[in-house]
Amino acid sequence: MSVHKEVKRITTHTLQEMKNHGEKIAMLTAYDYSMATIVDAAGMDIILVGDSASNVMAGHETTLPITLDQMIYHASAVVRAAKRALIVVDLPFGTYQGNSKEALASAIRIMKESGAHAVKIEGGIEIAESVSRILTAGIPVMGHLGLTPQSIYKFGTYTVRAKEEVEAQKLREDALKLQELGCFGIVLEKIPAQLAKEVSESLVIPTIGIGAGQHCDGQVLVIHDMLGINKGFKPRFLRQYANLAEVMNSAIKNYVSDVKAKEFPNEKEQY
Ligand code: KIV
Repeated sequence: MSVHKEVKRITTHTLQEMKNHGEKIAMLTAYDYSMATIVDAAGMDIILVGDSASNVMAGHETTLPITLDQMIYHASAVVRAAKRALIVVDLPFGTYQGNSKEALASAIRIMKESGAHAVKIEGGIEIAESVSRILTAGIPVMGHLGLTPQSIYKFGTYTVRAKEEVEAQKLREDALKLQELGCFGIVLEKIPAQLAKEVSESLVIPTIGIGAGQHCDGQVLVIHDMLGINKGFKPRFLRQYANLAEVMNSAIKNYVSDVKAKEFPNEKEQY
């Protein structure tokens, strides 16, 4: 039985109960009102307003260019749509690294101006001070370890992280540190399934995996990828649940051809 069946709004406490009861957590990204309405109504536990908006909404190659103002714009639209899901918003690149006061100010802006419920932040021990400071303001924080896309120029590649023992050990320590600091959950991106299993079992708080195997306490995907809107992106971990690019392409082609053929609008479609 679902622990959150009667829950009006998912909270960080609901997520913890879900882990305690062995119920998996479903998380998906959304960046705008219309999509978030559909995602929320479908029973999503967490909607992530990810900085992947930089890629799928704005067409940038990386997540680095998106700004705090742009994240707040996307998050506000999602907040207006979602009645039930917990809404988590990414702190974008350059708004928290190396300056915990700036991190807190960025998180406060997100919470105050968008109405979201929590923030997500990439990194481990090196961002501990920022995580702590945000938490002192009563803002729930989700961690993000493994492949952290804001560090892509350090990694040089989007390949699987923590395959070597040194990096795996750092990830284990980072995960424990984030839990100790008070994070309510941690995203584990693109790491070996065995490591994700070990980390998930060692933590009290839930882990949410993307390309991190079946033993995480929940899963997250980027909505454009799983709906087949983002056609070129087909990593092994991605299950494509629809081919919306094809559906949309065919609908739009039909519209163009109806307009050209003077078949749209017809007599019933006018005043
Ligand atoms: O920005 C994002 O969409 C994310 C997910 C890939 C976890 O951080």
